[in-house]
Amino acid sequence: MSQIAEVTIDGQNYQFPVIEGSESEKAIDIAKLRDQTGYITIDSGFKNTGATKSAITFLDGEEGILRYRGYSIEELAEKASFLEVAYLLIYGELPTQEEYQKFEHEVRTHTLVNEDMRKIFEGFPVNAHPMGVLSSLVSAMSAFYPDTYDSTAEDVTDLHIIRLLAKLPTIATWSYKKSQGHPVNYPNNNLDYCSNFLSMMFALPVESYEVDPVVSAALNKLLILHADHEQNCSTSTVRLVGSSQANIYSSISAGISALWGPLHGGANQEVIEMLEAIRADGGDTQKYINMAKDKSSGFRLFGFGHRVYKNFDPRARIIKKAANEVLTKLGVNDPVLDIARQLEAAALEDDYFVSRKLYPNVDFYSGIIYRALGIPTNMFTVMFAIGRLPGWIAQWKEMRTNKEPIGRPRQVYVGPTQREFVAIENR
Ligand code: SDX
Repeated sequence: MSQIAEVTIDGQNYQFPVIEGSESEKAIDIAKLRDQTGYITIDSGFKNTGATKSAITFLDGEEGILRYRGYSIEELAEKASFLEVAYLLIYGELPTQEEYQKFEHEVRTHTLVNEDMRKIFEGFPVNAHPMGVLSSLVSAMSAFYPDTYDSTAEDVTDLHIIRLLAKLPTIATWSYKKSQGHPVNYPNNNLDYCSNFLSMMFALPVESYEVDPVVSAALNKLLILHADHEQNCSTSTVRLVGSSQANIYSSISAGISALWGPLHGGANQEVIEMLEAIRADGGDTQKYINMAKDKSSGFRLFGFGHRVYKNFDPRARIIKKAANEVLTKLGVNDPVLDIARQLEAAALEDDYFVSRKLYPNVDFYSGIIYRALGIPTNMFTVMFAIGRLPGWIAQWKEMRTNKEPIGRPRQVYVGPTQREFVAIENR
């Protein structure tokens, strides 16, 4: 017997169906609310509002659980390759060996980017933020594949999916190489996904470059941990743009822009800049915790808090452990790691954070690993985008496959009521 929710408005009773998901989450289906009552709901930031039913990622913010298509993030981070996880998110199942070989080969053989894209890239100033460059160039990709505009065919969409997965890392490295005054590197189809990215980032034409397997394995784990996170800000953006039937490149480009924000993916850059500032200020973590508690300071503890996790972000646990392992293996001693640990310990004992259930999130420790891998701070959010790409694609594909309607929220108008126009000479 399915549940019913009853609402009484102006003395009249209304009933709305309750839906229940496979993990026993429940929602009131208000599709007929306005037709039946004339009322709408309002929910700033959509804190209590579900946008869709999705079969891709499940997370439980109270228990600190995260699963991609039913597989725990802990298992995938330890046992899978990033492209295996990308396949799982996009197509719903872990690939067989044959499926994986075909998928991986497709990605390897589409890493080259149209040379004319480089001409667009050359127009950016050397200090352009890599996220702005990435979003622009991904949007520009739609111009190179005119069959994107009305491509509903599965095979055409699959080719665009391969192109995005294959070419994003290539494009992402261009900003870094330009910032160093170095020539960009072409991809090498003999290398796996993570090794290819590292080679394009750090290889120089004047010497041979060997990918450190420790670095490649750490990158693989970080990309998996960022691969999807249900209806977060940037994913909701990708779905909303895609719901107008905009092409996949334009939708992903919009997601990259949303991720750039310091409250979202841009937080990983903010965390390191915050830790560096604390270090430069003598390492007084309590001073910054007091600032974060003082609303008038306008300062937030970046890397802390989460809209959904009211417990530890499971990704933060894995990344914190990996940070210790990777820095030890690489023989890196990063003073900001100690500051991060002190900040975390102090915050987790402070009632302001405990009472608001503010814990370290995915961004709190990730930058420490990126630094150890040699990745510059302004590229951290680009790394987040490379990791999140398969999740964005999977969510866009699910929305389009399910033929979801164009997203168009309502509003409550609070502006001036009707008034007559006054000629300018009389104002
Ligand atoms: C990501 O949604 C996702 O899944 C995102 C993500 C993903 O994988 O896609 O997980 C990735 O974006 C992680 C979050 C990265 N952002 C940051 O680290 C920025 C710092 N964190 C905050 O700005 C904040 O915690 C948010 C944006 C993450 C969540 O904000 P909410 O849910 O809107 O919560 P809120 O701002 O209403 O905060 C509730 C209270 C407020 O205080 P009161 O009004 O109750 O007195 O907690 C306070 C806030 O002032 N608060 C903080 C804080 N975060 C919340 N106070 C100090 N420092 C912080 N970091």
